[in-house]
Amino acid sequence: MKQATIFLTGATGSVGAQLIQKLASANVRIKALVRPGSQAGNLTTIPNVEVVTGDLADPASFEAALEGIERAFLLTNSSEQAERLQIGFAEAAHRAGVRHIVKLSQFAASEYSPVRFLRYHARVENKIRSLGLTYTFLRPNLYMQGLLAFKEYISDQGQFFASVGNARVSAIDVRDIAAVAAACLTETGHENKVYDLTGPEALSHHQIAAIFSRVLSKPVQFIDVTPEQMQAGLEAAGFPQWQVGGLIEDYAHYARGEAALVRSTVENITAKSAFSFEQFVKDHSSLFG
Ligand SMILES: NC(=O)c1ccc[n+]([C@@H]2O[C@H](COP(=O)([O-])OP(=O)(O)OC[C@H]3O[C@@H](n4cnc5c(N)ncnc54)[C@H](OP(=O)(O)O)[C@@H]3O)[C@@H](O)[C@H]2O)c1
Repeated sequence: MKQATIFLTGATGSVGAQLIQKLASANVRIKALVRPGSQAGNLTTIPNVEVVTGDLADPASFEAALEGIERAFLLTNSSEQAERLQIGFAEAAHRAGVRHIVKLSQFAASEYSPVRFLRYHARVENKIRSLGLTYTFLRPNLYMQGLLAFKEYISDQGQFFASVGNARVSAIDVRDIAAVAAACLTETGHENKVYDLTGPEALSHHQIAAIFSRVLSKPVQFIDVTPEQMQAGLEAAGFPQWQVGGLIEDYAHYARGEAALVRSTVENITAKSAFSFEQFVKDHSSLFG
């Protein structure tokens, strides 16, 4: 049976780049919303992909492209605008007759969370529910690929930093998130489901350092910093203030041990084991080595 076209947002990002490859290689036709001036270069060369130039901040720029679409994938980065952009997309999709939204949310999303990212994700989820669309909410835990932000520190100094103490976190590989998203966009049975997505084990950052050391055959050390030190580092790296505050809240949530649950959702949906942290390091060893 020929698949209907799927509309993707976030296709130039870390999850989206994996998702678009998975869908395109399964011969699914895709419309990918890309902002003017964004790095869409390689998307135009992928078979079955039509690039729609537009901006979530301007629903008129993509509304016509939603006509005839049944299923859409919703993802933005976490910013002060994310809630407004995502709700704007959900409303435009509803007006255009889209039936189902697969939304990338976050593990432990709740309107009552002290973590601003978890609050805005919950508010977007609630809006999608209230519009009467069917939905799948994917709630991944910390991305393993987040460690790529430390690749120079790990390769040059053998160190990485966070304010997380000894808490364990069941981090997940982005490739598994994309595999679950692809299944939810192309198969039935995922309607009105909320999926917690985790890796196969919960690890402390000291255990993560030990895995780096073993796989890279060199000492790698985790340095547990204070929230104030982490905040100063994020500010020095140029993160906007709202995001800095959100990341500090996020790491406080990890440090409280609230992100240590392990779920088998990836394996249940994709029929493959979730990537271990060890495999993630092996697959990216040239970047960390
Ligand atoms: N990092 C983690 O550990 C973690 C864990 C759990 C959940 N999450 C959630 O994952 C999400 C981020 O996923 P990701 O890392 O794959 O994202 P990402 O790499 O930061 O990519 C964000 C995507 O959103 C697009 N975008 C942003 N603003 C847009 C706009 N106005 N119009 C159209 N497109 C726009 C970007 O397009 P451009 O190319 O134009 O910028 C890009 O494709 C966040 O919601 C976060 O809460 C992250």
